[in-house]
Amino acid sequence: MTLSSYYFVMRLIKPSKKYEESWLEGLKEFEAEQRSGFWNVPDKPDSIDEYIQRCNDHSKGENLPEYWVPATTYWLIDTDEFIGHVNIRHTLNSQLTKIGGHIGYAIRPSKREVGYGTKILELALPKARKIGLQNALITCDSLNIASQKIIKKHRGKLQDTYEKENGESVCRYWISL
Ligand SMILES: CC(C)(COP(=O)(O)OP(=O)(O)OC[C@H]1O[C@@H](n2cnc3c(N)ncnc32)[C@H](O)[C@@H]1OP(=O)(O)O)[C@@H](O)C(=O)NCCC(=O)NCCS
Repeated sequence: MTLSSYYFVMRLIKPSKKYEESWLEGLKEFEAEQRSGFWNVPDKPDSIDEYIQRCNDHSKGENLPEYWVPATTYWLIDTDEFIGHVNIRHTLNSQLTKIGGHIGYAIRPSKREVGYGTKILELALPKARKIGLQNALITCDSLNIASQKIIKKHRGKLQDTYEKENGESVCRYWISL
C-alpha cells in the first residue's frame, strides 16, 4: 500500500455519510485494538447521523458534556477512503493541559506506517491556525515513538514529560502555528 501520489485526493473533511462504509471498517479496526474510534463523543453514537450531529454541535461548542471544550473533528480521506481522524480542541482545560493537548489524531491500523500519520498532522496544523490557535500543545505517550517522530517532523518542541498516576509518562510538545 502506498500513499496517494496526488495531493488533491488526500484531504481533511468534516465527517460525512459519503464515506460511511470505509469509516465503519475503520471503526472495527480501532475497536479490535481496544480504541473507541471516536474523538469527542462520550459514548458510542447509534448511527453516523447522530455522530455527525454531535461533531457539528461540539465544533460550535453546543451540547458539550460537562468539562468538555469545543473541538472540531476531521477525517483524513485518501481518494474515496476513510484513513484516520483528527480532533482539534479550540482551547485547553486542566486535563487537556496534562494529557490530550489541542490536537489528537489516529490512523486506522490497516493504513499505518506508510506516512498517513505524518500527513494528517501536516493537514491539521493550518486548520488549528484557522480556528485561532497560535501554538498547539500535542501530547503523546513516552513509548509512542511513531507519534513523537511525527510531532518532531512538524517542529514540535518538547516542553516536559508529565508523570501519570499509573507510572506511565506523557511527552508534551508545542508546535508554533
Ligand atoms: C501514531 C500513529 C498516528 C502513526 O501513524 P502512521 O501512519 O503509522 O505514521 P507514519 O507512517 O507517518 O510514520 C511516522 C514515523 O513513525 C514511524 N513508525 C510508524 N509506526 C511505528 C511503530 N509502530 N514503531 C516505531 N516507529 C513507527 C514510521 O516509520 C515513521 O518514521 P520516519 O519518520 O522515520 O519515516 C498511529 O500509529 C496511530 O494512529 N496510533 C494510535 C493513536 C495514536 O497513538 N495517536 C497519536 C497520539 S495523539
